[in-house]
Amino acid sequence: MKIDIVTIFPEYFTPLSLSLLGKAQGDGLLEISTHNLRERAHGVHKSVDDTPYGGGAGMVMMAEPIAQAIDPLVNADPELVMIIPTPSGARFTQERAVELSTAEHLLFLCGRYEGIDARVPEYYREVAQIRVEELSLGDYVLAGGEVASLAMIEAITRLIPGVLGNPDSLVEESHVLRDVSGDESAGETLVEYPNYTKPPQWRGLDVPEVLTSGNHGAIARWRLEQARARARKLT
Ligand code: ADE
Repeated sequence: MKIDIVTIFPEYFTPLSLSLLGKAQGDGLLEISTHNLRERAHGVHKSVDDTPYGGGAGMVMMAEPIAQAIDPLVNADPELVMIIPTPSGARFTQERAVELSTAEHLLFLCGRYEGIDARVPEYYREVAQIRVEELSLGDYVLAGGEVASLAMIEAITRLIPGVLGNPDSLVEESHVLRDVSGDESAGETLVEYPNYTKPPQWRGLDVPEVLTSGNHGAIARWRLEQARARARKLT
């Protein structure tokens, strides 16, 4: 998968060279490039933002420097999917992550301040005919799209075959929709059951006995019950 990130803070993305995603880039599974929006700005101050029409607090990111950064990427690959993290977008879910993990090329456009001139998504959707997704991590407001992009990139790319060391990790984790027919939990959204490791006793707390019983059927039933109980508590 190829990922381009347009931002005024490319430094935010240095952690992507660590751990799993660093290895995935070394293995050629992932190619991540950042593009500094500030380099596309004109004038002595290299401004990328201006005051909002109609008045109000804060600044809005101007369309043209963004277009200067994005156009070469879109022209080179009109099939790319543009993702604009914004608190006013549709909710980014595990289902979205699964769907986006099959894309070949993603472009993240990070806004700051009060957001991006609304003509940017309109232009790329309607005129350039690009798939544009405005996505929100949740009902809270971050200072910009950088942290949201990092979270989405991690959630999406760990689903690419070969990125995780042990692909079984994906099977029994939180928010995975089970649709395996015959599976007792078919169609349910569960959260992950509690996990324990050595030692069997820690500060007076024991590992649940069933997990050391060796009875795989009983272990699977206990885990399903726990996952259901945890999911119920969240709603
Ligand atoms: N930018 C600012 N807040 C955000 C949020 N909650 N989700 C995605 N992008 C954002």
